[in-house]
Amino acid sequence: MRILLVASAYNSLTQRVHAELSERRHSVAVEVTPHGEDVRRAVRRHDPDLLVAPMLKAVVPPDVWTARTCLIVHPGPVGDRGPSSLDWAVQEGAGEWGVTVLEAVAEMDAGPVWATTNFAVPDVAKSDLYRGEVADAALEAVLLAVDRFASGTYVPRPQDDFTCLPGARTRPPLRQRDRGISWDTDSTDTVLRKLRAADSQPGVRDELLGREWFLHGGHAEDRLRGRPGELLATRTGAICRATADGAVWIPELRARTGPGRPRACKLPATLALAGRLPALPEVPAAPQPPAGARTWQDIRYREEGPVGFLAFSFPGGAMGTDHCRRLLDAYRAACFRPTGVLVLGGGRDFFSNGIHLNVIEAAADPAAESWANINAMDDLVEAVLTTTDRFVVSAIGGNAAAGGVMLALAADEVWCRSGSVLNPHYRLMGLYGSEYWTYTLPRRVGAATAERLTGEAAPLTASAALGMGLVDRILHCGPDDFTDNVTRTAVHLAVLPSVQTRLAAKKAEAEHREATSPLARHREQELARMRSIFDDPAAPYHALRRAFVRKESAATDGGIPDAALAGRADC
Ligand code: COA
Repeated sequence: MRILLVASAYNSLTQRVHAELSERRHSVAVEVTPHGEDVRRAVRRHDPDLLVAPMLKAVVPPDVWTARTCLIVHPGPVGDRGPSSLDWAVQEGAGEWGVTVLEAVAEMDAGPVWATTNFAVPDVAKSDLYRGEVADAALEAVLLAVDRFASGTYVPRPQDDFTCLPGARTRPPLRQRDRGISWDTDSTDTVLRKLRAADSQPGVRDELLGREWFLHGGHAEDRLRGRPGELLATRTGAICRATADGAVWIPELRARTGPGRPRACKLPATLALAGRLPALPEVPAAPQPPAGARTWQDIRYREEGPVGFLAFSFPGGAMGTDHCRRLLDAYRAACFRPTGVLVLGGGRDFFSNGIHLNVIEAAADPAAESWANINAMDDLVEAVLTTTDRFVVSAIGGNAAAGGVMLALAADEVWCRSGSVLNPHYRLMGLYGSEYWTYTLPRRVGAATAERLTGEAAPLTASAALGMGLVDRILHCGPDDFTDNVTRTAVHLAVLPSVQTRLAAKKAEAEHREATSPLARHREQELARMRSIFDDPAAPYHALRRAFVRKESAATDGGIPDAALAGRADC
């Protein structure tokens, strides 16, 4: 079938729907636009049999949906209507939620149902939920709806035919006045629900140290205590703030800017507050926090028999210079442990999306910060690539992009969850790329495929990545089961005799490589290209980065596709 996807942004769900429908041999075109008028033009251009809107904030014009079937993916169960479905579900602590594929009609979210899927809601932030359970459910429902449409016989069912979940009803937008935290009276659990419902966008508007901010991210802390609303401590860039009955960690802040002013960068909280923060204790993270402890740390290590697990989770998958250095320290420490297998990652949500574009954008000298960041990332990747005394596995539970994919490729094996979307390229950010990709990518997929992947800059599903040898294993499970699945698989792997044989082969390969095409040469060549981009103020990277961070569309003359950068409104 000829399918036209219309979306407000080429986000990971749209990417996944695009890739999965294409893999099923449909001819799929994508129109990324915030405007209904553009949908009309795209329909004239592509003449599709069917329109699918995986994530659309605009209204589809009536002359489009009356002439052709248009399926809208609504991130709520049958009967739920309104633009803030997931926000309400997370804020009100729904235990079960759903995704419904509806036919577009005059009344928003009121059309007949082509497919619907429900799921249990874990205790995670909205954006993590969206990229995990919601994306899985959406894919299932979209594929079913497309098959039903293709059959030519399926009649979509009116919403009245369904039993609605509790909480599913027409809801207004969730506004900042509904999100506001009352630090004097709100319990930790209430504060967490509010923070998670607003994460990653729009954040919770709040006052702190004399100005207005959006608070992003929220994690419970069960040991630190203080006067409600008081700042208690810092930890690796996050701030800890007392609630009515406990405390929460807030990793990131974004300054509120006035109307007409550019959007401020979302930054690690202590960086955003630099110059304003009173003296607070920096409470170090425990290397191996006790099981069940409620606290927050972005890097954790644990062992299970002969396997070490080095888990990390950075907001947005963005790894600044400090994240890279701390992860390198933790990696080196893990390599001192008497384990035979070391697993990197293994959590749900993003593995890594490469260097921290927001921190770079906010730096006094973005070129210098880009340089520091890419070198710190390269140091980390080099440590993984040169580990020869144990078998290293990268476990990608969510999505990964750019240098984040290349970090994963440095390991001996790459595992990913069936729902992961990988973007193994740098072109959309106007970068040549580093992280030893000129060594690892062709080594895995061959030179021709490496060139195609980096040139086309298209997203890959897990199965496509497996098919071309980019990853070695897919774990078929939901996001919440990924860590357990990785643990079982790694413990099983560690006792296989073939691991020792592969370690010996790895050492031999490393010796041969250093004699013929040393890693240092790859690094030098890649960094020379990166340096010339960083140091050239006219290079598209700078405009693309600024647009990405500020959620604007970039005007560059570099011929770089702008699809991934379509603007999203600030709330
Ligand atoms: N630096 C800073 N922030 C980043 C980031 C990066 N490298 N990659 C992602 N983010 C942020 C996004 O801005 C977004 O922030 P928000 O929650 O405040 O809106 C959040 O992480 C999630 O990203 P989003 O784009 O909404 O997720 P997605 O799953 O739809 O798309 C990507 C994922 C990877 C395709 C897209 O985020 C991307 O292109 N990232 C940049 C990758 C890159 O070029 N890295 C630098 C070169 S190594």
